[in-house]
Amino acid sequence: MPTNNRTQNPIGVFDSGLGGLTVVKEIIRHLPFEQIVYFGDTARVPYGTKSAETIIRYAREIVGALLKYKVKMVVVACNTASSLALDVLKKEFDLPVLGVIEPGARKAAAVTRNKKVGVIATSSTVKSGRYADKITACDKKIAVTSMACPLFVPLVEEGWFAHEVTYRIAREYLKGMKKKKIDTLILGCTHYPLLKGVLHDVMGPRVQLVDSAREVALEVKEMLATSGLLRASSSRGRQRFIVTDEPKQFERLASRFLGEGIKDVRRHIYV
Ligand code: DGL
Repeated sequence: MPTNNRTQNPIGVFDSGLGGLTVVKEIIRHLPFEQIVYFGDTARVPYGTKSAETIIRYAREIVGALLKYKVKMVVVACNTASSLALDVLKKEFDLPVLGVIEPGARKAAAVTRNKKVGVIATSSTVKSGRYADKITACDKKIAVTSMACPLFVPLVEEGWFAHEVTYRIAREYLKGMKKKKIDTLILGCTHYPLLKGVLHDVMGPRVQLVDSAREVALEVKEMLATSGLLRASSSRGRQRFIVTDEPKQFERLASRFLGEGIKDVRRHIYV
């Protein structure tokens, strides 16, 4: 296996805001010795309603900022940015870049039994058609039903994970999915894992919920191992957090996503 002196360098992870922390949580679980620099573009969230051109510009700027931390790879922990900007980032930057769409699509294709898969995501992710493309690339017999659920992001940010209003909205959004008798539902937005309880209750026990965070973490591990970039250390890795808006608000909400409190949040100023 090749070795490399970049092994000690951090993994760069970015999202439009807080949601990508659900991916960080899984990376820490599977790769506790890795260092992580997380970039949350809190000043420009949401991405889910913006154009491809805008998202590509944001994503380029963020990868540029992460390179200053000498990151050894980049994880695009945002479904919208993965749908719209991943190919450009892979082409323009000379380091491994991983998105969240393919791992989730592969998992869904592997677990569906009746070949009816649902995707819930932001409007931009649904419009991009990336999930449907990636799922049918795995198995063209799979029928994909997609639904944009824009109200879920603010509900999560508000902490209404099991609120009566969240149930009502979820029932409304998921009506069509239930009619199509899907047996697998992809949570195609990094905020949605926090609504797993509601989604499970609304869809019923026969529908498997696929959250790509775990698959992404396992893929990060494999990519680092095959490129000789795994950090050899017996001490846990450090996590640093960079945001583009007020750090206090991010610190306050981060524990909901990460399952633990965080410190060390800095503000990035665009120049
Ligand atoms: N992080 C975004 C995603 O996974 C959701 C929030 C947003 O719209 O920016 O698509």
